[in-house]
Amino acid sequence: MRDLHSHFLPNVDDGAKNIEMTKEMLKLAKNNGVTDILFTPHYILDSRYMSDKKSNEEIMLPIKKFAKEEYGINIFLGNEVYCCLEILSILKAGKIATLNNSRYMLIEIPMHSKMNNVKSIFFELISAGIVPILAHPERYTAYYNDMDFFLELRSMGVLLQINITSLVGEYGGHAKKMAKKLLKANLVSFVGSDIHSSHAKTYECIPKVEKILKKLVDANAFIDITENNFARVVRDEEII
Ligand SMILES: [Fe+2]
Repeated sequence: MRDLHSHFLPNVDDGAKNIEMTKEMLKLAKNNGVTDILFTPHYILDSRYMSDKKSNEEIMLPIKKFAKEEYGINIFLGNEVYCCLEILSILKAGKIATLNNSRYMLIEIPMHSKMNNVKSIFFELISAGIVPILAHPERYTAYYNDMDFFLELRSMGVLLQINITSLVGEYGGHAKKMAKKLLKANLVSFVGSDIHSSHAKTYECIPKVEKILKKLVDANAFIDITENNFARVVRDEEII
């Protein structure tokens, strides 16, 4: 499995607290068969989570080396950007990173309320050549049962990433049901762990999650969701 969404980078957000924890998390990833990981630290404008692209790259550099040498894991950098009107300007200013500097950007929206201008912000990004990937669509309580919202986003060209732990009930019954619904409707392009620490048992659910995925989508979609689409992102190739 390749993990599109994670918080391994130490001391920049609410993820890994230090480099030792980052190593512990890499060990957990390796032990559960994860081969490639995108580090996606939060970037939330006007908050304490504003570690910029340049500092993240510097922190990442030595980690990239030992992740490959000691754990056989390929790591890449991006951000999980909190949706805001200023996304394009902070991108142009070099504050935030797309996923491995590709056209793809991981974006989260408010968890419990509807944001009026989400579609227009995504439209603006798409017009500028960015492909938004919505993080964990199944978790937004304001959009439970609102399949039309996600269908509309997909038809605009927005891609969706679900969290693996949603499928085993980590965020409750609603999120689990929504994740399954989105998968059945063929609206999901990626999985991610959204792992925040070495205490979490996040990666241990992978065998169970793979079984669930195989029941919900066909063999080609399974490989796309768990492996191929991740590879397309880091190579900046088109995903249909
Ligand atoms: Fe996250």
